[in-house]
Amino acid sequence: MAMHKESKIYVAGHTGLLGSAVLSKLLSAGYMNVITRTHAELDLTRKTLVDRFFEEEHPEYIFLCAGLTGGIMANTTYPADFLYTNIAIQNNVFGAAHRYNVKHVVFYGSSCIYPKFSPQPIKEEYLFTGLIENTSEAYAVAKIAGITACKVFNRQYKTNCYIALVPNSIYGPRDNFDANNSHVVSALLDKFHKAKSERSKEIMLWGSGNPRREFLFCEDVADASIYAILHSDELENIHYNVGSGVDYSIKELAEVIKEVVGYTGSISWDGTMPDGTPKKLLDSSRFNKLGWYPVTPLKMGLELTYSWYLQSDNISK
Ligand SMILES: NC(=O)c1ccc[n+]([C@@H]2O[C@H](COP(=O)([O-])OP(=O)(O)OC[C@H]3O[C@@H](n4cnc5c(N)ncnc54)[C@H](OP(=O)(O)O)[C@@H]3O)[C@@H](O)[C@H]2O)c1
Repeated sequence: MAMHKESKIYVAGHTGLLGSAVLSKLLSAGYMNVITRTHAELDLTRKTLVDRFFEEEHPEYIFLCAGLTGGIMANTTYPADFLYTNIAIQNNVFGAAHRYNVKHVVFYGSSCIYPKFSPQPIKEEYLFTGLIENTSEAYAVAKIAGITACKVFNRQYKTNCYIALVPNSIYGPRDNFDANNSHVVSALLDKFHKAKSERSKEIMLWGSGNPRREFLFCEDVADASIYAILHSDELENIHYNVGSGVDYSIKELAEVIKEVVGYTGSISWDGTMPDGTPKKLLDSSRFNKLGWYPVTPLKMGLELTYSWYLQSDNISK
């Protein structure tokens, strides 16, 4: 039976960027039996604790938004943690989901699973066709293991329980604004806010500003996740890209963020810093064909994110 308003739904990682958006979307849509556990209450890397939780709670649907995430710095400094933690969480939750007859688990891959020099836009079938970016190798391998796990659990156990979505860069409230561990949107919001507060005449940003990236507001990914479960009968046993379909150069992104923050100085680019992959745009047409499209324009999403940032403790001092 399809997910309904009384279904028992577990949002794993509900304090994070995506998990908090999934939780609030479920609650505002009227789902009344949503359960959560903080990391401190339930460490998902610990199998005995995970099994006990499933034994006690018997969740019917799971949004697996818990995981170890981070930017290039964290990925290159702690690759063992990225590999171990993410694989342990996936294994424990996928195994328990099978044993306790969970109806659907939504798992999230990442665009870094695809070859570094994929043709653009990136189609699902480009997985395994080339070398991946080495700075995020450990994280990407864990994500590839998770996507493969979804497919083989479905195939071996003749189910459609496991749903693998591959969102491109997510941004929004509760993103990580810590300068050492942030992604590009949160890093730029923080930098522009700081430059505005300090009345700096010029802001220097890394790289040429030419690389192109695709950004998705967290609420849109939350919406896609619920949509996937509600349309699970139409899903094939493959992973689905979830993107906005539009990419922006980092220069274009910086101009929008400058406007949203209200910074009036000028922007200069430090071309001596590396640029990374020139373009990363997902082909999301398979998921779009099921009828799902994102609805939040970039500027609106950035405004919502910045207003959360202003009210939170994340503001640069
Ligand atoms: N952000 C993106 O651009 C992006 C893009 C594609 C896919 N994804 C995937 O989407 C998922 C959610 O990402 P996100 O950006 O929302 O991550 P996030 O903001 O870092 O949140 C991660 C959540 O997982 C929890 N967590 C971490 N380790 C845990 C453990 N051992 N046991 C229980 N809970 C644990 C965290 O709690 P604590 O903070 O208390 O540790 C937090 O609530 C991840 O699988 C990520 O790989 C993210």
